[in-house]
Amino acid sequence: MLKIGVLASGKGTNLQAIIDAIRRKEVPAEIGIVLSDNPDAYALERVKKAGIRALYLPAGRFKTYLEERIEKNYINVLKKEGVELVCLAGFMRVLKRDLLNAFAGRIINIHPALLPSFPGLESWKQALNYGVKFTGATVHFVEEGIDSGPIILQAVVPTKPDDTPETLHRRIQEKEHIIYPLAIKLIAENRLRIEGRRVNIEGSGLNICCE
Ligand code: GAR
Repeated sequence: MLKIGVLASGKGTNLQAIIDAIRRKEVPAEIGIVLSDNPDAYALERVKKAGIRALYLPAGRFKTYLEERIEKNYINVLKKEGVELVCLAGFMRVLKRDLLNAFAGRIINIHPALLPSFPGLESWKQALNYGVKFTGATVHFVEEGIDSGPIILQAVVPTKPDDTPETLHRRIQEKEHIIYPLAIKLIAENRLRIEGRRVNIEGSGLNICCE
């Protein structure tokens, strides 16, 4: 069983999708711990309901990243828990070198756009404002740049003329909830081979559908 740690700042629907997929035995993993930088994150409520260990760890005085000493706390807790894979699920802080080095090649993120388009915040709004016909969701490895690591899986979501940011984000999230657990399953089954920026998936039968 792959032991994962999930970092979440918000409503935690991706966390829920991971919990549900593990429960349905679709993903051979277990959640060791969930960490949040936001005491009011609904993600923490979900975890309580699921009987999974969770901790609120304050982020310190910076808005977009964790203070260095606090990042060390995150590392200590994750290591103590025996976490092998760190999954960012709506964790709204940029990770710095210490955490990245502590889990080199073992941190993944879900992003609400087809990277490398629309990195950063509220990507569904960026996509609407830009006027793209297709956007989507991406699961990728995390490295030092923002939303820039090697791509594991993507799913496409067409935009509609009457889309609002909310309707588009909702459809993107439906795809996120499919591809994030699937990416964790592929890692748990040791089916990913990274060559430079390319992530090759071993074994056949994997066909992510585009609407
Ligand atoms: C998700 O749409 C995720 O892709 C996005 O935050 C949302 C969290 O939703 N992440 C980013 O924008 C990271 N750059 P959730 O709390 O319901 O899982």
